[in-house]
Amino acid sequence: MASKILIIGACGQIGTELTMALRNKVGNDNVIASDIREGSRDLMESGPFEIADATSFESIENLVIQHEIDEVYLMAAMLSATAEKFPMKGWELNMGSLFHVLNLAKEKKITRIFWPSSIAVFGPSTPKIDTPQTTVMEPSTVYGISKQSGERWCEYYHQKYGVDVRSIRYPGLISYKTLPGGGTTDYAVEIYHEALKHKKYTSFLKEDTELPMMFMDDAIKATIQLMEAPSEKVKVRSSYNLAALNFTPETLAAAIREHIPEFEIDYAPDFRQAIADSWPSSIDDAQAREDWGWSHDFDLEKMTFEMLAGLKDTYQGN
Ligand SMILES: NC(=O)c1ccc[n+]([C@@H]2O[C@H](COP(=O)([O-])OP(=O)(O)OC[C@H]3O[C@@H](n4cnc5c(N)ncnc54)[C@H](O)[C@@H]3O)[C@@H](O)[C@H]2O)c1
Repeated sequence: MASKILIIGACGQIGTELTMALRNKVGNDNVIASDIREGSRDLMESGPFEIADATSFESIENLVIQHEIDEVYLMAAMLSATAEKFPMKGWELNMGSLFHVLNLAKEKKITRIFWPSSIAVFGPSTPKIDTPQTTVMEPSTVYGISKQSGERWCEYYHQKYGVDVRSIRYPGLISYKTLPGGGTTDYAVEIYHEALKHKKYTSFLKEDTELPMMFMDDAIKATIQLMEAPSEKVKVRSSYNLAALNFTPETLAAAIREHIPEFEIDYAPDFRQAIADSWPSSIDDAQAREDWGWSHDFDLEKMTFEMLAGLKDTYQGN
């Protein structure tokens, strides 16, 4: 019998594409999407969907029992920019939901967990270039503190209770199917929308702010690959560094100009600049490549082509 998957936070930027990819892979009925709100029409119509609050243990446990769930992908979280505005809410959602899922695995009600971490676990004292898998981690944001604590708890539950939890420190993710949910790297998605709509964009990060990024297809590929890897190959049980591209708003604008020569960018940094300044500009992901064979497919040019082609339909006629 195929294993049954529950995705919590399925209507978000990553959850939407992850749900569709997993439904294609293991069958629509074997992937239960859930969120506190409804999602895209494709997601809602292609398979089972349940409204559930990730901060309620009872709600999550009920879904697990009702649908005989084996694997949980916990994608619900409050992201970096929003969590700076609502610190306690961010902490409660990010940590509370993780404990619920870890405890369900500890009680053997589920067999495997995917929980995403982030490059936000690193802070101003972390080496900025080729940030190693294991290094100084003193995050200075609410979001980063919650992700770093989450990583420690994942490793603890694995070592102490044998919980099969797997995790990736996603860089900034770029996609055209769903809008981003309040992160510091959202500019790299907004810029494509504005380039097609107005041929002009005002970046909330400075021109030379280099950050690690990745096209969504690569992030989904990595997530599924890690979840399918034999247990003994998953040697890191806190969270894996993962890398594909690094670029600045200025280099991204230049890549867009290859397709839209009249595109203009200017800069009006806001509170998100300080968050970006505390994060690495590039990541060393050698361990993910070695342990479970990770490799990325999309460079800046290929991603830019895909983004503009994917969004063109949305803005045709503008
Ligand atoms: N997108 C990125 O660039 C990025 C980078 C690093 C890490 N991550 C991590 O990946 C995960 C998913 O990120 P995303 O970008 O898809 O986020 P998102 O904000 O787009 O989606 C999160 C989803 O969770 C849902 N949600 C919020 N509160 C909930 C609750 N109480 N119960 C149930 N659902 C709830 C939201 O409705 C939303 O659909 C998060 O853990 C995030 O920290 C994302």
